[in-house]
Amino acid sequence: MKVYLDNSATSWPKPEEVYRAVDHFARHVGANAGRSAYEEAIASGRVLLEARILIAQLIKASDPAEIVLAFNATDALNMAIKGVLEPGDHVVTTSMEHNAVMRPLNGVARRTGVTFTIVQAEPTGFLDPAKIAAAIKPETKLVIVNHISNLIGTEAPLAEIGKITTDKGVLFLVDAAQSAGNTPLDVQKMGIDLLAFTGHKALLGFQGTGGLYVRPGVRLKPWREGGTGSESEMDVQPEMMPDALEAGTANCHGWAGVCAGVKHILELGVETIQAQEWRLTKRLLEGLAEIPRVKLYGPDPSVRRGPIVSFNIEGMDGGQVGYELAETYGIMSRTGLHCTPHAHKTVGSFPEGSVRLSLSHFNTAEEIDYTIESIRKLAAE
Ligand SMILES: Cc1ncc(COP(=O)(O)O)c(C=O)c1O
Repeated sequence: MKVYLDNSATSWPKPEEVYRAVDHFARHVGANAGRSAYEEAIASGRVLLEARILIAQLIKASDPAEIVLAFNATDALNMAIKGVLEPGDHVVTTSMEHNAVMRPLNGVARRTGVTFTIVQAEPTGFLDPAKIAAAIKPETKLVIVNHISNLIGTEAPLAEIGKITTDKGVLFLVDAAQSAGNTPLDVQKMGIDLLAFTGHKALLGFQGTGGLYVRPGVRLKPWREGGTGSESEMDVQPEMMPDALEAGTANCHGWAGVCAGVKHILELGVETIQAQEWRLTKRLLEGLAEIPRVKLYGPDPSVRRGPIVSFNIEGMDGGQVGYELAETYGIMSRTGLHCTPHAHKTVGSFPEGSVRLSLSHFNTAEEIDYTIESIRKLAAE
């Protein structure tokens, strides 16, 4: 049996429609978007527009032009962090962030003197909005929060934090790399100004796609400038959105896949996907909790979260556990620090790291039971 439980790295398998859409684009469309007037070029441009429309619908943005296409969530987070911050600004972020936030933030801080405060989450992953409010200073420009932890799946209280940032007039950037596609999002109701997403995880597309929602009226310095196919007589980047933040050839066949992925999600319903994944995740958590020597990280197994489970087997190296799971049982997991050292420190798994199992709605109860039994055997060795 082969069981893929590394969906937080990238989702697999994709829905059949995604494979078909990419194949169709590659064979029958092929052209670059937004650069020429022949039929295939127009069809390619339509794919990018459709991607913006579908993603806007998914996250409840008011206009497709608010969706900037990028190459992954890291790209989008860099665009937001480097586009907003100026010397003298202060940022509030959390101990649950990925290096896709921490590294650009530290880079900007080192180069420009921007300062930041890391709000500590509880060992259960719980993030207290009151602590975010208390960390905001007069010079705070931006609050950055990871929606679903890529280590333990816990969900940040976005609506409460969005209310605080809106009241205080501070920009709110959400890292939705692990949530867009499997957790309901409403950028308007949640008071979100900027939201980074990736196309190859829960949006069910392929690698090389991601993007940034930018609330109307929020202005970012472009961090990538170049050809847009618009206002080409000008030597400088156009100001209109989304061209202001997009330059160079888009990953058109990749976006054809994301369109099919998001249609699949909208047809099924995000809530249905979330409920299905939670049933499987809870089954996995409850099964693992009964195994002697297995240490689970995060809250009690009854607390609902995204489809991500981290554990260690006492006395065994996590890398060895991941290797044995793959070699002996055909279970694909991810071990180590998962690019989130502060979250590991928060939950108590630093510096050793953990074994992470991450699910999608394509996993089955049979796969979960097989995984629990395989880990039981490993822990009994
Ligand atoms: C929470 C979080 N943020 C950002 C990223 C970066 O996403 P990408 O690799 O698509 O840039 C990841 C990827 O695992 C993630 O889990």
